[in-house]
Amino acid sequence: MRVRLKGDAICTLLLLVALCSLLYSQLEHLVPVGNKEPTQKKPSGTSKIFSDARASWRLMPAEATVPRPPVTPTIRRTEAANKKVQTTTAPPLTDSAFNFKRYLLNKDNRNFNILINQPKKCRKIPGGPFLLIAIKSVVEDFDRREIVRKTWGREGLVNGEQIQRVFLLGTPKNRTVLATWETLVHQESQAYRDILLWDFMDTFFNLTLKEIHFLNWAAEFCHNVKFIFKGDADVFVNVENIVDFLERHDPTEDLFVGDIIYNARPIRVQKSKYYIPETMYGLSIYPAYAGGGGFLLSSRTMRKLSRACREVELFPIDDVFLGMCLQRINLKPVLHEGFKTFGIVKPSAAPHLQTFDPCFYKDLMVVHSLKVAEIWLMWNLLHSPHLSCTQKKQVKKPFQWKKKAQPTTQASPLG
Ligand SMILES: *[C@@H]1O[C@H](CO)[C@@H](O)[C@H](O)[C@H]1NC(C)=O
Ligand SMILES: *[C@@H]1O[C@H](CO)[C@@H](O)[C@H](O)[C@H]1NC(C)=O
Repeated sequence: MRVRLKGDAICTLLLLVALCSLLYSQLEHLVPVGNKEPTQKKPSGTSKIFSDARASWRLMPAEATVPRPPVTPTIRRTEAANKKVQTTTAPPLTDSAFNFKRYLLNKDNRNFNILINQPKKCRKIPGGPFLLIAIKSVVEDFDRREIVRKTWGREGLVNGEQIQRVFLLGTPKNRTVLATWETLVHQESQAYRDILLWDFMDTFFNLTLKEIHFLNWAAEFCHNVKFIFKGDADVFVNVENIVDFLERHDPTEDLFVGDIIYNARPIRVQKSKYYIPETMYGLSIYPAYAGGGGFLLSSRTMRKLSRACREVELFPIDDVFLGMCLQRINLKPVLHEGFKTFGIVKPSAAPHLQTFDPCFYKDLMVVHSLKVAEIWLMWNLLHSPHLSCTQKKQVKKPFQWKKKAQPTTQASPLG
């Protein structure tokens, strides 16, 4: 798929201005200037700025000091994942923060209680929901959940198919935070009935626990669902396209679709956040797995994976762990070009031009690494009655879902 540069010039310009002002307003809170006191405690009420700023402050020094290892497919993945981490889970401050020995020792401790459940989420829908949207989030990110609820994560009918939604949470790493947020999370759950909270610490390396607990939850409480989309909160999802795609599939057959990464090598550079020692994973290549952002699976595959994952040893990188479960049930994940894990390739001279062409998003399923405001903006642009992408459709063949993806950008970094 080729990126369309020749967009509506005026529209793009307006968007650019809007984006600049957005970025500017964000920067104001990030950069310690003049009378602003960055060392001061941030008021807990401003959840949006608080969580974004904290994540950025943490990420920046790490990125600046860690030397870049030679470019391999896994490095690409790391960079994309860094962005993901920036907005969802705070990465460990130092590499020593992750203690492999302790991880290996605690590996069998993998069953945690559910603190907030939504047992009727699927049961209350006669015949079951068509699609369950499950979004990884962290307790602190109230603003992100709010924007997802109001945009692509809406519950209700899309093309006549019932969509339901849950957010997947663990307990905050910082227990002081938990004390203040606990009431809020319970209230949030009362208000929206879309919170699943488990009693394990919500850290980057515990995302595998989230994966296991979600699959088990789905198998127990949502067995009547037809399909599941599982993704991050910092993605833009074109649910209409996903429904359109899924309507041509059978939920009683196996299906696992996403931005599949093949032949990724474990990173053996100790300084990397994704460093995996050979004692933990001895093979030179990971099984095929879905890159961050999101993936789709059928009801049948969900049940099979939920069983298979119980037999796979915990692995600290959740995407790879799920790849191991897939391998165990002998299911080949399917690459779909509608999933853009790495975000859209941007020309350095105009970084936001294509990203904010709604006509481009129209053809996609999942785009990764978006800010809260960007998600809101894109959703509104896409659902604007004034949106007209017909000019492009004449130049290019109308978009069609292909069974097999053509060799695209995915092929080059791996080749
Ligand atoms: C936990 O959060 C509280 C309140 O936000 C903060 O004062 C404290 O420094 C945090 N502790 C750690 C270990 O981050
Ligand atoms: C995962 O969560 C458990 C339970 O809260 C905690 O004991 C453990 O330290 C966490 N592991 C990591 C790697 O964060």
